[in-house]
Amino acid sequence: MKKYDFIVIGSGIAGLTFAIKAAEMGSVAVITKEKMFESNTRYAQGGIASVIDKEDKTYLHFEDTLKAGAGLCHKNAVKLTAQKGPEMIKLLSEWGVDFDKTKSGSLELGREGGHSKSRIVHVHDYTGKAIQEALVNKVRENSNIHIFENCMGLDLITDHHLPEKTISGSITCYGVYVLDKNNEITTFLSKITLLATGGMGKIYLHTTNPAIATGDGVAMAYRAGAAVGNLEFMQFHPTAFYDSSGIRFLVSEAIRGFGAILRNNKGEAFMKKYSPELKELSPRDIVARAIDSEMKKEGKPNVFLDITHKNPNLVKEKFPLIYNTCLSYGINITKELIPVVPAAHYQCGGVIADLNAATNINNLFASGEAAMSGVNGANRLASNSLLEGMVFSLTSLKLIKDKKILNSAKIETSIPDWDDSGTFDEKEWIYISHDKREIHQIMWDYVGIVRKDLRLERACNRLNLINKEIEEFYKKTKITKALIELRNISLLSVLITQSARFRKESRGLHYIIEYPEKNEEWLVDTIKINNRFIKRPINDDGFTSILRK
Ligand code: FAD
Ligand code: SIN
Repeated sequence: MKKYDFIVIGSGIAGLTFAIKAAEMGSVAVITKEKMFESNTRYAQGGIASVIDKEDKTYLHFEDTLKAGAGLCHKNAVKLTAQKGPEMIKLLSEWGVDFDKTKSGSLELGREGGHSKSRIVHVHDYTGKAIQEALVNKVRENSNIHIFENCMGLDLITDHHLPEKTISGSITCYGVYVLDKNNEITTFLSKITLLATGGMGKIYLHTTNPAIATGDGVAMAYRAGAAVGNLEFMQFHPTAFYDSSGIRFLVSEAIRGFGAILRNNKGEAFMKKYSPELKELSPRDIVARAIDSEMKKEGKPNVFLDITHKNPNLVKEKFPLIYNTCLSYGINITKELIPVVPAAHYQCGGVIADLNAATNINNLFASGEAAMSGVNGANRLASNSLLEGMVFSLTSLKLIKDKKILNSAKIETSIPDWDDSGTFDEKEWIYISHDKREIHQIMWDYVGIVRKDLRLERACNRLNLINKEIEEFYKKTKITKALIELRNISLLSVLITQSARFRKESRGLHYIIEYPEKNEEWLVDTIKINNRFIKRPINDDGFTSILRK
């Protein structure tokens, strides 16, 4: 049994920002599934959106975010995020991130889809790597922060685990059970727990996300009784590198901001047909659907991105990561078209959290991609999420400090050890591992960019069955990292599909053929709590009384 004031689950931007500041108040454990360096954060390319240029204004960033969010953003959350941009950039610079500068020494600003101004602060096309490095270094030099690598949170500890169960309506989080690389399970106890486990792209067959992105935090929180919301809004990035062997990596939107053109297999620049004004720089849902439609019309597995008309030296200088990675797969982007396809990229929904990142479970906070803070609504504006993760991790700490929560919260020591009595049956495991492939395929084919009622229904039926099988298998089996991940993606695939069936309209990232228009009746968040769906009016401060019950 290990005890800390704070437990942080996840070592991306949300978790590490929190850890650095929390360490000023108490002891911190950072628990992370692989090495400290691994996260979605580290793969971020484009950069961080922030109002820096004097021609730009906070209200423009606010309005652009609301426009992309298609009516579902929580305005106070967006306002806070847009206002905090410059402060977060300053903090990252102080922590050692060396953002690109112009010759005159000011921050160089990129342009991305949906932004009315150039406001993307970046480090070439490897911004995430630069941020991750700086944060990891900062954490490693802090003696109040204890690092647990290759350790995976498997379930949150709540009142349900107390020997004398006293569940009276409100639930409290006491820590997390953690599986290490030797398959040993340790009880980690804390006063405050932050879920910063990132996204869930790995539920889909094609994704820009790394292997860690299996939505563990959202699944754990849901099992513990947290409200989750808006899971139907999975963002598909329009341009992942396409290769027939299945290789995918992101080709940043910044390259379209720099002038790259999307072409179909006949070489036609097609975006003007779908979005005459913004063309390649339209919000992602529009670009991804346009690509999907061209691919279907042509019966081809990809379209192309063309940057060959730009100065080759400038292309290499601005996009070294993309240039070199494409070259390693045989494409010289200064001379040849880049084959691209949309891929699952970002989950706009998650564990519902308020402006202080508090969830409906006492002492459990959620920040970053695992949370639904209200910033993204029905579609995330490019380069808003690194910023969002930092902002809400810091507001949670302000609340904890101002309300002296550390003084009132206590470490619950009557928690029993994990019951690890299952036995592993290898033959069964092979059978179960087929389920993973099936989940990937079903989600891609039936719960992807363009949805249809009947397909969603079929997906739900099959996914429910798979999920039931996995739950049964899980109870009997000695658990492993792979099995926990499978259990999590299986649960989340059901939740995403049910959320998509529940919403009878098309809005933002959720496009359903039978209901192609927005419908005012659905100007609401879709919340899943206690096994039922609720349509919740968009609530600027996070919770409604429904969630506090
Ligand atoms: P992450 O950075 O994903 O970190 C999650 C952490 O939790 C990881 O360390 C992981 O190992 C750990 N973890 C997960 N499950 C467990 C578990 N069960 N137990 C213990 N640890 C666990 N956003 C932008 O704003 N700008 C960009 O330019 C940009 N580019 C992107 C490019 C790519 C290729 C991708 C995939 C995303 C991009 N995004 C970008 C999105 C952005 O990177 C993520 O949304 C953001 O980094 C999420 O940060 P996070 O801290 O919430 O999660
Ligand atoms: C990109 O560089 O295109 C990714 C930006 C983002 O996901 O915000």
